[in-house]
Amino acid sequence: MKSQFKRILYGGDYNPNQWPREIWEEDMRIFRNARINSATVNVFSWAKIQPAEERYDFSELDDIVDMLSRENYDIVLATSTAALPAWMVKRYPEVSRTDYEGRHHKFGQRHNACPNSPVYQRFAAALAEKLAERYGKNGRIACWHVNNEYGGECYCENCEKAFRIWLRKKYKTLEALNQAWNLEFWGHTIYDWDEIVLPNALSEGLQGGKTAFAGISIDYRRFMSDSMLSNYRMERDSIRRFDTEAPITTNLMGTYKGLDYFKWAKEMDVVSWDNYPRYDTPWSYTAMCHDLMRGLKDAPFMLMEQTPSQQNWQQYNSLKKPGQMRAQSYQTIAHGADTIQFFQLRRSAGACEKFHGAVIEHAGTDNTRVFREVRQLGLELERLSAVTPGSVNEAETGIIFDWDNYWALEYTSGPSVDLTYVKHIHQYYTYFYERNIPVNLIPFDADFSRYKVVVAPVLYMIKEGMKEALTSFVEKGGVLILTYMCGIADQSDNVFPGGYPGPLRELAGVWVEEVDALSPEQSNEVVFKDGTKVSCGLVCELMHTEGAEILAEYGSDFFAGCPAVTKNHFGEGFVYYIGTNVEEEGLSRVMDMAVADAAVQPVISGAGGLEITCRETDVCSFYFVLNFKDQELPVPEELTGYMDMITGEKVPEGEMLSKYDVKIIRVEK
Ligand code: GLA
Ligand code: ZN
Repeated sequence: MKSQFKRILYGGDYNPNQWPREIWEEDMRIFRNARINSATVNVFSWAKIQPAEERYDFSELDDIVDMLSRENYDIVLATSTAALPAWMVKRYPEVSRTDYEGRHHKFGQRHNACPNSPVYQRFAAALAEKLAERYGKNGRIACWHVNNEYGGECYCENCEKAFRIWLRKKYKTLEALNQAWNLEFWGHTIYDWDEIVLPNALSEGLQGGKTAFAGISIDYRRFMSDSMLSNYRMERDSIRRFDTEAPITTNLMGTYKGLDYFKWAKEMDVVSWDNYPRYDTPWSYTAMCHDLMRGLKDAPFMLMEQTPSQQNWQQYNSLKKPGQMRAQSYQTIAHGADTIQFFQLRRSAGACEKFHGAVIEHAGTDNTRVFREVRQLGLELERLSAVTPGSVNEAETGIIFDWDNYWALEYTSGPSVDLTYVKHIHQYYTYFYERNIPVNLIPFDADFSRYKVVVAPVLYMIKEGMKEALTSFVEKGGVLILTYMCGIADQSDNVFPGGYPGPLRELAGVWVEEVDALSPEQSNEVVFKDGTKVSCGLVCELMHTEGAEILAEYGSDFFAGCPAVTKNHFGEGFVYYIGTNVEEEGLSRVMDMAVADAAVQPVISGAGGLEITCRETDVCSFYFVLNFKDQELPVPEELTGYMDMITGEKVPEGEMLSKYDVKIIRVEK
């Protein structure tokens, strides 16, 4: 696959505009020493480059771009539209947002523009166009960075009006809308499009972020995601008129709930994202986020931001231990990144990010631990441009990740408040992660035929086409894993009558009659055929088999002896149905069976606790071997005797990796 970049971009957000000019030269010297070759500039400079409605001033940005060009940088040029200038909010108050409680905001903070304000749209498009006109032919612009971390919501009158238009387009008639939202409930029937009210705390919102009408609220999320996406497209199209070559992106945020990233990725040339694990985030979780970001376009991605060491906005902002940033960076590349970029290159002196780590810290020198680690990585990455860009990750297992389902599941009022989406995806992902079985995170309309195993955790919402696609996948020999809370509602959040899992009932060979919710202190158990008992909780589905084989039954309560885990032979394939949240030992047992049925293999055998992934080219495989465990672990025998791309030396037999050690081992095909 051809990459978007000729070398691994190494750099990050750089705000020289916050510093006097003498500092700029010093920055260049220090960055050169660390082999930094890229800078993301102009992320929050709207007030600087458009100081008044009628006036643009690019003189400082020109100087920054010239300086970086002289230094042979690959420049990532941002459009600055993620924080409004004060003059704009003062003159046009409609550009700022109205929040969920209905309060219209004043000037302040960032990510604060109403996506449906025609004034904001006009100014943002004009700014992107001016920037593209000025810098679009500059060959040093390696990538355009539109806005910054799109997100949040607006509940203003402009949004309400735009929502009505969006709904008219979607539903055509009020009858269809009334039916989709089930508005007979509580007599909420609408007789005029103007009667539609957006769902917030003043209307259908319930305590705890829940809603009286999930149909309306899910549509509002779809609409907000589409509204911001059209902001993005508008800026992108302005840029494209002047620059037909450089890739255009906006930085995403992993499993961020608010935007349907699969839909977004279709409009982006390359996916980029910001990775900020907490001190206690499991490495498997970060790996999953990378696989999701890679999955959005099924292609390598950019790591737009990570901190060299410390955070400021988490509760406890621990330092990264020696070696940790390097290991985190290699994990990112291992899962498909072609760039390593930091937030930020020089630490701010004031405002809320002054405690956020940077390549140059407040000490202002390169004589720091953090800098030495950044430099070491820079020297290594310079050599590794022969590994990535250009190689790709392959997988035979897919886990479905679907934003509509995410929203719908978390809006449900019942059966349990603990039914959160990402936790379940991670639970299943972890099984594969721990065994080094590569996984793609895939959309609901993926080409399932590419996979041997498809896992669909808590697939509450079944959208049009899914039944057919999953049926044909299993018929042709695929192994499908379904769990509790599956097949309950359609895309408008109305239940499929006739027993869960609705359209997947025949495929699963079971039907679910009731769903019990267990509080955290309650548990049941599942009993496998050989008598093994493991604990389960969260929800227990009371189901009946209709052709499926029973693998395990409940151990207690009035439904003891009822099926809890089943397996159905369908066509050439199998469908596993896991009716309760089984603890790890039991889950692994079921997953082992599914993986054996599908003959899915780990990327390498004998990994023994190491994280190992593989990026491939036509001629060779690059094995990324990482140790995130506290104890030393041996490199698997199968990989010894081959070249480590980092050191340029052969990996000797019996080689041990200590915590945070990394090897990138090249094996010819
Ligand atoms: C986000 C933003 C950056 C910066 C960092 C700090 O990712 O995009 O501008 O605020 O957080 O972690
Ligand atoms: Zn609005």
